[in-house]
Amino acid sequence: MTWRLLASYLALTIVVLIALEVPLLILYQRNERQDLTSKVERDAFAAASLAEDQLQSGDNSPGLERTVRNYQAQTGGRIVIVDIGGHTIADSRGPVAAGSRAFANQAEIVAALHGKTVSGIRSAGDESHVLYVAIPVESAGASVFGAVRITYPTSALDRRISRYRLALAAVAVIVLAVAALIGLLLARSIARPLRRLEGVAARVGGGELSARASETDGPSDVRSLASEFNRATAKLAALLGSQEQFVADASHELRTPLTALRLRLENGETDAALIEAERLAGLVDELLELARADASGGAPGDLALGDVVERRVELWSALAEERGVQLEWRGTGGLIRAGEGRVEQVLDNLLSNALDASPPGSAITVTADGGELHVVDEGAGLNAEQRERAFDRFWRASKAPGSGLGLSIAKRLVELDGGTIELQAAATGGVDAVVSYPVRRA
Ligand SMILES: Nc1ncnc2c1ncn2[C@@H]1O[C@H](COP(=O)(O)OP(=O)(O)O)[C@@H](O)[C@H]1O
Ligand SMILES: [Mg+2]
Repeated sequence: MTWRLLASYLALTIVVLIALEVPLLILYQRNERQDLTSKVERDAFAAASLAEDQLQSGDNSPGLERTVRNYQAQTGGRIVIVDIGGHTIADSRGPVAAGSRAFANQAEIVAALHGKTVSGIRSAGDESHVLYVAIPVESAGASVFGAVRITYPTSALDRRISRYRLALAAVAVIVLAVAALIGLLLARSIARPLRRLEGVAARVGGGELSARASETDGPSDVRSLASEFNRATAKLAALLGSQEQFVADASHELRTPLTALRLRLENGETDAALIEAERLAGLVDELLELARADASGGAPGDLALGDVVERRVELWSALAEERGVQLEWRGTGGLIRAGEGRVEQVLDNLLSNALDASPPGSAITVTADGGELHVVDEGAGLNAEQRERAFDRFWRASKAPGSGLGLSIAKRLVELDGGTIELQAAATGGVDAVVSYPVRRA
């Protein structure tokens, strides 16, 4: 990944460099050429004004020839002056044969003799180039007397441009080197924490659930990935821990009735042994119920809480009557979203607890309003700490019969439907078991 990041970083830098440097070079080249052209043009105009009188009068003065020769000696530019007939009047390169028309047919001179100013760059045969400027020699009016042409070697210009090109290339190389360095550091700073995270993931995969990734390392994306990973690992560890605890608790709880069963059998107390065996079977059933709580009771659907409560209270009232306990229900109940089987099982557990706690002659009141369900008894009640602990697996307030699993199962079932369950102190002195289900909105 480091190399891919680095490559993309460098590619971007190259694109930016090209986008900046190529126009810069083109602009520089054009400017330099324009500067040289206008300089040569100025010289040509100066030469034209010098030549004007002589071309007008027609007599040859050695002064003009000396001037153009000096010009070539000083600048390297060659000046050629022709009259309107194309005869060469002066040539900075050397003396002119009388009546020579050596330049008469050159395109730029023809154009200048027609009153046009022309300039451009052309090849000088070999590698080198020359800049040429040709202008007409004319009086203030309109008549053209001749033409001046200057050809100027571009070698100095070319040298400057190639120096500039080299400088740009050097800048590009330096920028690329710096970009590569920064890119490498950046890529490393991303890749390294990711690799460390990978190492931690491998350790967790190997069973070391206490391994945690550093959440302060690297860029924020990697940090949040690390904290998400840590959260998932912690959850997994907690889940596995609670499962191990469950197995340990269950084995421990099963051992007591098993011991009792063995003792009864050793003593030949068959009836008592049968009771123990039944108790054992009940405990195993409840354990299975707890383990399968997720799957039971079907998918959450729209459920009229009042109807479920009415049916369950009716079912339990026979047993209540047998124990001399008055069982009744109030309220209208609302439409909730829950699994019907799960709600019934929760109610059964709460009613069974309430009945176990209720002395003869007392009453159990069930109310259902909206999504809230109360099961209130008039028993001895529980203190605040006991009401909390009652939801722990296998916890029982006294050595009373029962597995201590009923409320943990109920809690699991209620939470599966997105509801909450708690035990409160009832005004009657007993316990008020409160369940809240999510209400179905119309
Ligand atoms: N309504 C109640 N009144 C008094 N004690 C209760 C009540 N409900 C639960 N408890 C206490 O909480 C313990 C745990 O209840 P639960 O999880 O249903 O297990 P159990 O199988 O023993 O009924 C019970 O053993 C009982 O001591
Ligand atoms: Mg119970």
